[in-house]
Amino acid sequence: MSSSVVMPIAVITGGSAGIGFELACRACENGYRPLLIARHPDALSAAADQLRTRYRIDPLLWSADLADAQERQQLIERLQTIATDIEMAVLCAGIGFGGALHENTWEAEHQVLQVNLVGLVQLSQIFCQWFAQAQRGTLLNVASLAGFQPGPYFANYYASKAYVLHFTEALALEMRPYGVQVSVLCPGTTGTGFHQKAGIDKTELARGLFGIVMTPEAVSRIALRELSRKRVVIVPGLLNQLAAWSVRWVPRSWVRAITGWMNAQPALAAVKNG
Ligand SMILES: NC(=O)c1ccc[n+]([C@@H]2O[C@H](COP(=O)([O-])OP(=O)(O)OC[C@H]3O[C@@H](n4cnc5c(N)ncnc54)[C@H](OP(=O)(O)O)[C@@H]3O)[C@@H](O)[C@H]2O)c1
Repeated sequence: MSSSVVMPIAVITGGSAGIGFELACRACENGYRPLLIARHPDALSAAADQLRTRYRIDPLLWSADLADAQERQQLIERLQTIATDIEMAVLCAGIGFGGALHENTWEAEHQVLQVNLVGLVQLSQIFCQWFAQAQRGTLLNVASLAGFQPGPYFANYYASKAYVLHFTEALALEMRPYGVQVSVLCPGTTGTGFHQKAGIDKTELARGLFGIVMTPEAVSRIALRELSRKRVVIVPGLLNQLAAWSVRWVPRSWVRAITGWMNAQPALAAVKNG
């Protein structure tokens, strides 16, 4: 398939790496021209090279820091110029910093809130306005299995994903009368650079539930399949679905203890266990 100005655009924040990049691949396979948004231009270019080679589609690449309010505003003004061509928005950019809250810096935790929450809510609002006007469109927000429970030693990240999950579920109902599909993707542990950047690559969480780590490709394929079925909450993988369901029935104190154990750094866990 060759790129063309008439192809509908799929905006993908965090599209330069991991799950976002694989969602960009799926967007190409489904006839969209991806617009990748991330901070580092080199990573964006490398992702674009791969998309051109694989799909012969020339993606749009916009560098922006979603943690920065001014950059978000400039991004929105730029998006406005192509708003009528945008038919899908995937808000996938997300970050976290492992460790106990009192030991982390406020700058780091504030960045998590800006990217995972404030930026996501601001962009969701803009896309919902445009899609409602056009009476069509798809918004996919990326939360996490973490959104179903509290997460000691990764507390702000888990809570941010609970927000994204509940927020997006609510939008799904609000946007239904306009013919706009809104869904939320909740992956479990997925093999990307995320855990290393978050400083949690030595934790049980990074090893995955029962040692199972899904590939970002598998996660993205399930996401697109379930979007086409109009599923609102998408939890890829049977074990992850079981985990999301089981936290409703397991005593809350057990849930906190298990997630705390999964998120603790090995050294910390050893100290806690005597
Ligand atoms: N991997 C997992 O196990 C897992 C599980 C559940 C949910 N998730 C969620 O899935 C999403 C994608 O995670 P991933 O594993 O694919 O992570 P990843 O490989 O680290 O990719 C993160 C992407 O977000 C971009 N990004 C980070 N900070 C940004 C900022 N301030 N402004 C703009 N872009 C930014 C990164 O590019 P730059 O660094 O160049 O900006 C990159 O493209 C996240 O929301 C994450 O919370 C991941």
